[in-house]
Amino acid sequence: MKILMVCLGNICRSPLAEGILKTKVPENFFVDSAGTISMHEGEHPDKRAIKTAANHDIDISKQRSRPITKADLEKFDKIYCMDIDVFEDVISKAENEEQRQKISLFMEILGDHENAEVPDPYWGGMDDFENVFQILDKGCSKIATQLLTHNS
Ligand code: 4NP
Repeated sequence: MKILMVCLGNICRSPLAEGILKTKVPENFFVDSAGTISMHEGEHPDKRAIKTAANHDIDISKQRSRPITKADLEKFDKIYCMDIDVFEDVISKAENEEQRQKISLFMEILGDHENAEVPDPYWGGMDDFENVFQILDKGCSKIATQLLTHNS
């Protein structure tokens, strides 16, 4: 099972989602993350994201930002998008229905259709990063349960 988390810059939300989900699924699951922009390509996650993860004993410091590619849509089984702009951008890269079916909004797993987006903490403070961590932690628990139920 291959799971891809996607946000805009791949330095705040999706690296946290990758790090969190990795703690909840077996090692034979491949979990990765990417961004829809290449502006931060090659960079480690934002220092505030690294610190927030470390506060929860998760090390995301070695991750590097990379932009999503069309090959990712073929390679991964599930692609979770952090907000609606990201979702629309990723969907626009899909070349067939099978690829489109893999792509969803992360917040759908929490059944929250009013707050459909994982808020972008980039312009915020440490409280915003912690809030995002809590949202991602809840969502990743549900994703892990769902994947383990359907793929064991
Ligand atoms: P992310 O946050 O999409 O959660 O990684 C952002 C990172 C960078 C920018 C915006 C959001 N930026 O404008 O550079």
